[in-house]
Amino acid sequence: MMNNKIFIACDTSSISKAKEIIRKTQITSKLEIGYKFGLEFLNSKDGRNFISKIKNQTVFIDTKLHDIPNTCVSAVKALKDLNIDYLTMHISSGLDALKATKKVAGKIKLIGVTILTSLDNKSLKEIGFNKDIKNLVLQQAKLAQKAKLDALVCSAQEVKIVKKVFKKEIITPGIRFDTNSNDQKRTSSPKQAYKNGSSWLVIGRPITKGNIKKNIQNLIDHLEK
Ligand code: C5P
Repeated sequence: MMNNKIFIACDTSSISKAKEIIRKTQITSKLEIGYKFGLEFLNSKDGRNFISKIKNQTVFIDTKLHDIPNTCVSAVKALKDLNIDYLTMHISSGLDALKATKKVAGKIKLIGVTILTSLDNKSLKEIGFNKDIKNLVLQQAKLAQKAKLDALVCSAQEVKIVKKVFKKEIITPGIRFDTNSNDQKRTSSPKQAYKNGSSWLVIGRPITKGNIKKNIQNLIDHLEK
């Protein structure tokens, strides 16, 4: 099997569901698995406390910070008691905010988020961007490189061009190995994403909905085909 690094998106507000996801995805040595906790879990009543107790796992906190430098810096400082490995912020927060946040992140790897995988060129026009997705993501990747960020999030469709300007880890959501793309617009199969050069995939619903163990096995079968 080629690359095998996957972040499972624990998109739930339930501690028992998060525990179930962790337990049922630890069934194979064929995948290197980390766990991503986003706004839903972090804002749930006991979510933060649960994360503070996780041991021996790669933990990715998807804060998607998008704010002025002072607020981003203060938010990261406020999370420092947690033993987390990765944290996200939107590159569109601007170069000053990226540099300032990287400075205080310490051993936490700071991930820059480019254009969300739920957006397409039509959505960009609606927001008021003139560039198309590929060029906008490329420009943001250059900014992430300039700010010395540790990793970058983009769709599998942009990985090849992003790799030319961003030299560290590339993390790819919008992964589908079934037919349901849900709200995602720029999707890719796991195999294709790795082939394009992704370091990590982020997968949520295709694994966490339905029979988790069976979904993991389907993913392995897909990768080994
Ligand atoms: O369920 P699904 O596989 O679509 O989940 C994707 C996860 O990746 C979600 O937690 C979502 O917040 C996150 N994400 C994304 N697109 C980005 C950045 C993060 O889908 N650009």
